[in-house]
Amino acid sequence: MKVRTENGYEDIRAVWFDKGKVMMIDQRELPHKVVIVGFDDYKDVAEAIRNMTTRGAPSIGATAAYAMCLAALADENIEEAAAKVKAARPTANDLFYAVDYMVDELSKGKDPIESSDAYAQMMVDKCTSIGNYGGELIKDGMKLMTHCNAGALATVDVGTALAPMRKAWADGKRFFVYASETRPRLQGMQLTAWELNQEGIDHAIIPDGASAYYMSKGVDMIITGADRITSRGDFANKIGTFDKAIAAKYFGIPFYVAAPISTFDFSMKDGSEIVIEERSEKEVTEIYGQRIAPMGSPAKNPAFDVTPAELVTGFITEKGIFRPDEIHKVKG
Ligand code: MRU
Repeated sequence: MKVRTENGYEDIRAVWFDKGKVMMIDQRELPHKVVIVGFDDYKDVAEAIRNMTTRGAPSIGATAAYAMCLAALADENIEEAAAKVKAARPTANDLFYAVDYMVDELSKGKDPIESSDAYAQMMVDKCTSIGNYGGELIKDGMKLMTHCNAGALATVDVGTALAPMRKAWADGKRFFVYASETRPRLQGMQLTAWELNQEGIDHAIIPDGASAYYMSKGVDMIITGADRITSRGDFANKIGTFDKAIAAKYFGIPFYVAAPISTFDFSMKDGSEIVIEERSEKEVTEIYGQRIAPMGSPAKNPAFDVTPAELVTGFITEKGIFRPDEIHKVKG
């Protein structure tokens, strides 16, 4: 992605490997500063996934692949490292997919750096393909809506939900994007809006609670990412996605989910099997370390929700666009 830094425009990824270190944009610092951090111990990389220095399913996957690369280079016990990295967060399938990919590569004696770089590149190629398929859905003058961040930051580069927008904009189509702020971690406001801004794509940040209001005024299509998609098409994504899908159904607005095959978990029959991460209540009750809720009021903070397949128009994947009843075609 093109990022405006003090050195002008730089083409950087969300995560990469350089001189023995796993490098990443510290997404907790955006949109105020572009801060790059590096780690040379796989346990610190696992912690960076846990504390959301890096986030978004495919970026979490690539970061996990690089963590496994560090573990292999340091001659760590691979089984133990795999378990530690997988324990970083529970919901995104890409984390587990990437670790299993690396364990398999390492068991075949493959070079750890080449394998993890290949994994990251594979994600970028898949996202480019998602952009090509999804870009066709976007027409001049449309009003789109997205939630959370499923852009380049979340996917190594390019994006999943944002890939069709990037492609359509680059093809000269002009449209408008509503980016909902995404309480409590504000990925929509701080990351998606930042990316749309960098690309010069027309957009506005809206409070999460304003989504149905704007749908009632005219939204042509909603595109979100996903963290885990089951074989029947129920999918987990950032908390608030389910509300949008219900409202979209009410207004008859097409609802698309953009994700690579690494996000599909064919071992799960339906959404009831997905483990939903519960994060600290402080993310809800505090802003920048300042308590904003009454003392003594507890809070709940599920990081994801599960949207049933019935509310999904189609899954935009690197292999094409599939209705929920066609998901078996993604696998084959
Ligand atoms: O908790 P996060 O920030 O890792 O959650 C990210 C999301 O829910 C994204 O919408 C999802 O990972 C899709 S990423 C392309």
